[in-house]
Amino acid sequence: MNADLPAALGGRPALGRDSHRLWPILGDEDRRGVLAVLERGILSGSYAPAARAFEARFAEFVGARFALLTHCGTSALELALAAAGVREGDEVIVPAYSFVATPLSVVLQGATPVFVDVDEASGHLDLAAVEAAVTPRTRAVMPVHIHGAAADMDAILALAGRLRIAVVEDAAQAHGARVTGRPVGALGAAGAFSLQSSKNLSAGEGGVFVTNDHEAAERANRVRNFGQDLRLDEAAGFDASRPLDGNRSLDSGMLGSMFRGNELMAAVASAQLARLPTLTERAQANAARLTSRLRELPGVEPPAAPAGRTSVHHKYRVHLHPEKAGLACSPRQLRDAMLAALRAEGLEAVLWQTEPLPAQAIFRERTLRALTSQPNGTNLAENYQPERYPRTTRLLDGSLLLFSQSCPLIAQDAALVDRYAEAFARVWHHREAVVSAHRGS
Ligand SMILES: Cc1ncc(COP(=O)(O)O)c(C=O)c1O
Repeated sequence: MNADLPAALGGRPALGRDSHRLWPILGDEDRRGVLAVLERGILSGSYAPAARAFEARFAEFVGARFALLTHCGTSALELALAAAGVREGDEVIVPAYSFVATPLSVVLQGATPVFVDVDEASGHLDLAAVEAAVTPRTRAVMPVHIHGAAADMDAILALAGRLRIAVVEDAAQAHGARVTGRPVGALGAAGAFSLQSSKNLSAGEGGVFVTNDHEAAERANRVRNFGQDLRLDEAAGFDASRPLDGNRSLDSGMLGSMFRGNELMAAVASAQLARLPTLTERAQANAARLTSRLRELPGVEPPAAPAGRTSVHHKYRVHLHPEKAGLACSPRQLRDAMLAALRAEGLEAVLWQTEPLPAQAIFRERTLRALTSQPNGTNLAENYQPERYPRTTRLLDGSLLLFSQSCPLIAQDAALVDRYAEAFARVWHHREAVVSAHRGS
């Protein structure tokens, strides 16, 4: 066995399967928080104590006036859209690269997602494409802080202001990411975070709606609770001795659903939030360490944060450029060969999305059902053609993610990150043979 060869070519793997730390990291604070909930015996309620405490802490963390706990990030996105005034028949501009929950939340609000292409390097909304996609039906645009990297909110807010459309932030992956010092989430009309297990802030499942606008918060609070006629200031009257009762009418005055979180998730989320700043610093230090090594390799493009905007590195996407690397293969061939070779080294490497969102079956079917052309609206049959998103396709064909959801960058120590850099460099050094071997396999 040749120690200098990558494992894909017969060498020894760099890492064993148990070299990584698993996510989420749970500690005594999480246990204490959950036990306190169980001892109190109150498990749920819009105004229950653990939920209220978490909401107050999270609002402070993201610099928002209001935060509402929900049972997942998708429902928080729905609240944000409803709070921003999105209604049936409206169009909402979304990026063709995100998680499906972004456009799905628009569909679930009865509105129509209209896709636009993204910047190939960052995965963020392309602003010229946003402007070109606006129709008289457009009510909002949803920037996604993808991978935990803050989108260019100053430019998006300026554009949306000029176009008179609302900005709803999908910050599901970006707890604590900043734009010129301001945390993302509530920079526009409203925004949403996810607390699902893989996220930097995890409560198993869960989500948070945020806004600075009182009316939007009141509206979201009602949508979160079957559209019933409740008010945020009722929280002050919460009776811990009768937590399941209240005086409000059970009449639904508007369309809503049951999107509330529960006390156990709130307790875990609070405990996790207390350690999030330290963990975020580690994710950022790890990313800087890895980036400084990977960027020296020809044809390898690690993630870059533009001036004034930070990333919390929920995901770490590396672009691979065959031509710059002196290879004659396609980006996809290089990506697949590297993915297999890095995994053979024992590294965590994944793809996470392989096609533009409109390629997903739900949007194919919607195209068939829906109007080929709405009056004064977008031609969906055209908009939902995946071929219309060449930069998203190039981004996905030409890149892979280092680390995985079970073993993310934020959980690892610097020594492991160095071993990633070394193993990656060794595989890259042998890239031509790695690609040939993968082709023949
Ligand atoms: C970009 C993005 N938006 C929305 C969501 C939805 O969050 P959840 O899974 O908590 O509903 C996720 C995460 O899964 C996501 O990554």
